[in-house]
Amino acid sequence: METGAGIALPHESGRPRRHRASLPPGALSDLLPEIANHIALITGADNLVRLNSRYLLIHPIYRSEASPTVVELYHDCDTSLDVVVKRVEKDRLLSPAQWASARRELDIHRSLRHRNVVEFLDGGETEKEYVLMLEYLPACDYFTSRIEVNNEPFCTKRDGAVEKFKSFTCDIVLGLAYLHANGIIHMDLKPANLLLKKDVPTNEFPLVKLCDFGLSRRVSDDGSVLIEKKCGTSSYVAPEVCDQACVTSAVDMWGLGVMLHMLAVGFAPYALRWKPGEELKFNPRYWRKYENTGLTDLISRCLRLDPAERITAQQALSHPWIALNGDM
Ligand SMILES: Nc1ncnc2c1ncn2[C@@H]1O[C@H](COP(=O)(O)OP(=O)(O)OP(=O)(O)O)[C@@H](O)[C@H]1O
Ligand SMILES: [Mg+2]
Repeated sequence: METGAGIALPHESGRPRRHRASLPPGALSDLLPEIANHIALITGADNLVRLNSRYLLIHPIYRSEASPTVVELYHDCDTSLDVVVKRVEKDRLLSPAQWASARRELDIHRSLRHRNVVEFLDGGETEKEYVLMLEYLPACDYFTSRIEVNNEPFCTKRDGAVEKFKSFTCDIVLGLAYLHANGIIHMDLKPANLLLKKDVPTNEFPLVKLCDFGLSRRVSDDGSVLIEKKCGTSSYVAPEVCDQACVTSAVDMWGLGVMLHMLAVGFAPYALRWKPGEELKFNPRYWRKYENTGLTDLISRCLRLDPAERITAQQALSHPWIALNGDM
């Protein structure tokens, strides 16, 4: 099963620290001819790493022993903004399926533009890597640190505002509705693939954006796609996802259900020995905060065993848990 098993590296605070060549010099320099002027990594005489001479490497954000992905922060010297570069190293792609995923990620992410999807700024392919340049969202580990590290779900008192959680749900569902309307299934919804944009002038709460289209698929005209191998992150994977399965966007709604459960109370429904197909029980000990909000109903409708019975992202936008949030 393909999973994201890496670690987010601690962020360095303050202004960009120039990074001495931590990448092999010329890692991106063997370029395919058609993008030779498009992406080039240069290690200058000063031994600083630059991308297209315009972007200065600040520090790595994420790398994993188990995966070919490296995520790094660069400073755009023209705009004075920071950008993220996600590199997928080809010589660490171990199977045809991994190669196909890497290609699809570039192709799919490049086609997306929505306020609840991490913005794709640029990208391309070299002989050695697939490269995606993305907007930088500093609060990239908000959901993972909150849930997986600090065990502070939204039902706990501290920073547990229900309105904030509703706003976050609304953002995720808007992102999903956009993807699904455009024939894309994300396939790997989980807290690590949600990033937060703070200080959005029009928003009371930070904006949630979907990232990581590494397992995403385009559906055909009938709304389904055949997946060769089971993929995803085990606790979030819908029951119908298995080798040679035909899946639909309902896969993401399952992932959403598990994720909302996690964010709400800090554990997945499986923790209480629930099995897909059984009725979900919501013990008031954990769920009191959400009484009469509709959240448990939304989660139950995401976690229906039969994908055809699951709520769709479009329907979820009118669900009381989100619709009560008002402004959509
Ligand atoms: N635009 C961004 N801004 C800030 N941090 C980011 C950004 N994109 C990714 N990250 C950080 O890097 C991590 C890994 O990125 P991503 O999820 O895209 O890679 P991945 O495909 O999961 O890697 P793997 O191959 O290990 O599964 C994210 O969980 C997040 O912490
Ligand atoms: Mg990821």
